[in-house]
Amino acid sequence: MKPLTCLSLLALLCGAAPQSVRFYVIRQWKYVNFTWPDEDTLKTATAKGMYIPENNVIAGVKYFEDHFYITLPRMKGGVPATLTRIKAGPAHDASPNLEPFPSWAMNSVEDCNNLQNVQNVEIDARGQIWIIDGGRTETLMTPVVKCAPKLLIYDIKAERVTTVHNFPEEVASKNGSFLYDIVVDHTDGGYAYITDNSARDPGIIVYSVKENRSWKIRNAKTMMADPSATQFAVNGITISAPINIAGIALGPEIRTSNDRVVVNEDREVYFCPLSSQHLYSVNTTVLRDKNRARAAPDYDNSIKDIGLKPSQTVGMVMDNQGILYYGLLGNSAVGRWDSRTPFSSGQRLIARDLKYLEWPNSFTFDPTGNLTVLTNSLAKFIFGKMNLDEYNFRLITSYVGGKSYLYDDNFNYDLHGGHSSPRELTSPEPLPRPHPEPQPRPEPTSDGHHDHDTTSERTGDDSVKITQSSGCVLLTSLVTLILSIFVVLA
Ligand SMILES: *[C@@H]1O[C@H](CO)[C@@H](O)[C@H](O)[C@H]1NC(C)=O
Ligand SMILES: *[C@@H]1O[C@H](CO)[C@@H](O)[C@H](O)[C@H]1NC(C)=O
Ligand SMILES: *[C@@H]1O[C@H](CO)[C@@H](O)[C@H](O)[C@H]1NC(C)=O
Ligand SMILES: *[C@@H]1O[C@H](CO)[C@@H](O)[C@H](O)[C@H]1NC(C)=O
Ligand SMILES: *[C@@H]1O[C@H](CO)[C@@H](O)[C@H](O)[C@H]1NC(C)=O
Repeated sequence: MKPLTCLSLLALLCGAAPQSVRFYVIRQWKYVNFTWPDEDTLKTATAKGMYIPENNVIAGVKYFEDHFYITLPRMKGGVPATLTRIKAGPAHDASPNLEPFPSWAMNSVEDCNNLQNVQNVEIDARGQIWIIDGGRTETLMTPVVKCAPKLLIYDIKAERVTTVHNFPEEVASKNGSFLYDIVVDHTDGGYAYITDNSARDPGIIVYSVKENRSWKIRNAKTMMADPSATQFAVNGITISAPINIAGIALGPEIRTSNDRVVVNEDREVYFCPLSSQHLYSVNTTVLRDKNRARAAPDYDNSIKDIGLKPSQTVGMVMDNQGILYYGLLGNSAVGRWDSRTPFSSGQRLIARDLKYLEWPNSFTFDPTGNLTVLTNSLAKFIFGKMNLDEYNFRLITSYVGGKSYLYDDNFNYDLHGGHSSPRELTSPEPLPRPHPEPQPRPEPTSDGHHDHDTTSERTGDDSVKITQSSGCVLLTSLVTLILSIFVVLA
């Protein structure tokens, strides 16, 4: 893309009135460890190479009833569990060990009925966790191709698997597919929309619970990498690869404020390839039409190009008011867009920090209006540059006053302008006090990596606060962006 376009995009973000959103670090890990049943199991796992700390990376996060469910894709060997959870809320230990979920047994790769490789999950309001399991493991090394990709629905309260669907080869191939992210739509017995990040056959996979069937929507123009956006830099590491569709978000149902009638049968699904600055959308009516999908149609006219973002994105989420939050990888930032405003002028940068927002990979809401972002320094992980003496993974939280798109039952939204202007709905709520706990342990001072970041500061009670968060981008980010433009042009 042209440098001018990039700069004018940033200028737009800059022109906005400051919208201060503060994020607090609530958990952080240098590397992850697990709640081992006993010392012997840990010793055996370590000896047999079944637990190699530096090969474990956390990737997805979803909140449900006082827990964060955290995924660990098996990209390399030595990842003992691919789905885990930790307690949410204040904690004395800011780097807790992860508890395999639902059990150690279900995380064993021995049996294809177990979880093999989970990149992301979604948890609906009834406490069903929808788990996408790519099947293939050690995807960054010599992949182990043993199990088919599947969707597994597990009832957290009843503690049992309620649905298993092995994707047929023509929807998600065993050797070529890469189930990346999932959103869930409760319509008509339940649907899942899943991005397949496959290099060969990317698309959006649709699964109907009622029919127990799946199909795939393909569109090269909007679901494959944009050749002009395959290169960008994150904290000095250059990513240069065409990466297809990955991030996905589902818009809310729209109801009138007086009679609460659903006015849109067709909710909007937002998505983008990682290697792209475009955001696209398609409505669920189009996605749910399986006959159309089977006829190998042309979706060019059904998919909307919403516009350009300042950088590449992988994680995104929409709240039940239609506000999209999304990571901006090349800017180490989080963007926000109220979907009732034009994309070109309505995007806002709500937080940016080279250190604390290094690779925002996944987003979740809790029911009290907090947005939690998982950052995982993925570029470092992939290029083997992770330093286990530094914090590599973080959960950072901010009160934004939104709720997940899944909780749309008491949502009303006056299509025709009503009494509440979008402005009122989107302006940040008063900031909460920082968490009194947990207290992240101070970074070691003797390791030479004490890279104090001028944009972050420690508050009196030692919780970390990210203050560089107004609508205006500071000079440093312009420099970063200009540098990355040069990389792209080079
Ligand atoms: C992992 O946790 C266990 C149990 O708390 C502990 O004994 C072990 O030393 C830890 N391993 C690493 C590599 O930190
Ligand atoms: C949301 O954040 C506030 C303060 O930032 C905290 O007090 C509250 O416990 C959080 N809610 C949940 C469900 O963790
Ligand atoms: C649903 O479909 C999958 C794949 O076709 C199959 O493996 C599974 O047994 C089916 N489940 C039920 C309940 O019919
Ligand atoms: C999977 O696909 C790759 C790339 O096309 C190929 O090299 C490899 O042999 C395949 N593996 C299996 C088990 O089919
Ligand atoms: C969904 O999108 C298609 C293509 O843009 C459009 O023709 C259709 O009317 C939309 N569906 C509904 C229910 O509005």
